[in-house]
Amino acid sequence: MKVFMLGGYGAVGLPAAKLLVESDLVSEIALAGRSMERAEETAAEIGDKAIAVQVDADDEKQLTSLVAGYDVIVNSVSNQVALPVLHAAIHAGAHYCDVGWGQDFIAQMQELTAEAKDAGITAIVCTGISPCITNLMGVHAANQLDATEQLQSGRAWVFQGARSLTPQQWLKNTVKQLAVLHEFKDFLEWMLQVAKETESRTVRAYQDGQWVDVDPLTSSLQAPLPLGGTVTAYPYGCYDPLFDSLPQDIASTRPIEVWFTPFPSQLHDLFREQALRVTAGDVDPATALSSFYETIENDPDRWLTVANDFAAFSPDWVTAVGSKDGRAARFNCWLAPELWNEQSAWFLTSVPLVIAVLKILSGETRERGVITAEKAFEPLSFFDEVVALLPEPPPDGKLIGESFEWLE
Ligand SMILES: NC(=O)c1ccc[n+]([C@@H]2O[C@H](COP(=O)([O-])OP(=O)(O)OC[C@H]3O[C@@H](n4cnc5c(N)ncnc54)[C@H](OP(=O)(O)O)[C@@H]3O)[C@@H](O)[C@H]2O)c1
Repeated sequence: MKVFMLGGYGAVGLPAAKLLVESDLVSEIALAGRSMERAEETAAEIGDKAIAVQVDADDEKQLTSLVAGYDVIVNSVSNQVALPVLHAAIHAGAHYCDVGWGQDFIAQMQELTAEAKDAGITAIVCTGISPCITNLMGVHAANQLDATEQLQSGRAWVFQGARSLTPQQWLKNTVKQLAVLHEFKDFLEWMLQVAKETESRTVRAYQDGQWVDVDPLTSSLQAPLPLGGTVTAYPYGCYDPLFDSLPQDIASTRPIEVWFTPFPSQLHDLFREQALRVTAGDVDPATALSSFYETIENDPDRWLTVANDFAAFSPDWVTAVGSKDGRAARFNCWLAPELWNEQSAWFLTSVPLVIAVLKILSGETRERGVITAEKAFEPLSFFDEVVALLPEPPPDGKLIGESFEWLE
């Protein structure tokens, strides 16, 4: 069968194309993009099954004629070109997959469900690490309880210098410490801005045996640690929309998403102090951020040292809080911490995309229309399929770790 891969020589597309040609289901893969030179170079690298095609995905007319005869069109370019590409797929009667993200994006793509069904095609949207893997973790977590009151999710924000390092590794390297810290500047400013804009907001959280509305800056959640136990996390960086496409009825209370950095705890406390000054109206986010950096630079040993008992976070975790057998309970799951490295970050998007394409080609996914990962895949078997295609799978062969606890 024939795959037309837009963005096939990009960071997400290339590993996916290499995996796809290994499948007996794939007889040809067209690597398509605006640069014929890059497409040809990559086709030569990939081998006999690959051909190069030059096209601008925004040009729906040209694209529609080029994709005739292909079985599936893969968009590993961007959200921006998704509509013309899906239109071309519908006209050509070819299936479609992408690595998009965002609630608005999903809603816009789902408007084409009836047309996709009429054309007899399956379009699986958003099959990257997030929202695909993260949402399947959410579904899996909710499945472990009889009733889920709330889903909480955490996502690490990691920048170039720290991307290939665990928090312990980058904080051991004194030259890199401050440089990496400065790479977080835009993110931290954004967090302060979120805190300022949502200063009167409360979040619903389960605390001391009951549900209460709490201030996200002063009231904490317990986030799971991969090696067991929990760590204190504050949902002050949380914002809407949450969980992208996750069905709204999966939990009865609004979910909480916590964005965090791989900082040691004293640095989080220092940052929270500044966030409190911003929400109190004492300073603006830029001034608060300058004070944050100055304080650290005046005493880096105090602020940039990891305590001996510092436990590594997972880059992504999901917690379901609710009840099971009539008792309050919490279920946690997290991405294997070994996957916190630069290579895995790309593979965890390329691999789900490949699995989605192969499930369509093999006929395993038969539902027609525009569907999301939660609708198309069963979480645990999907995670096993991801691990099987990772170049460096976690040592225990599990994509996620998990824990369950009674809350009363
Ligand atoms: N959902 C997730 O979890 C997740 C995770 C990571 C990435 N992503 C998404 O994946 C997408 C690709 O990321 P990437 O890092 O692979 O980007 P990249 O390395 O820049 O690759 C983009 C590819 O698309 C091609 N392209 C760009 N504009 C095009 C156009 N108008 N027509 C045809 N081809 C075009 C580029 O080639 P030319 O420039 O030569 O045309 C290139 O091959 C991004 O939208 C990103 O948001 C999603």
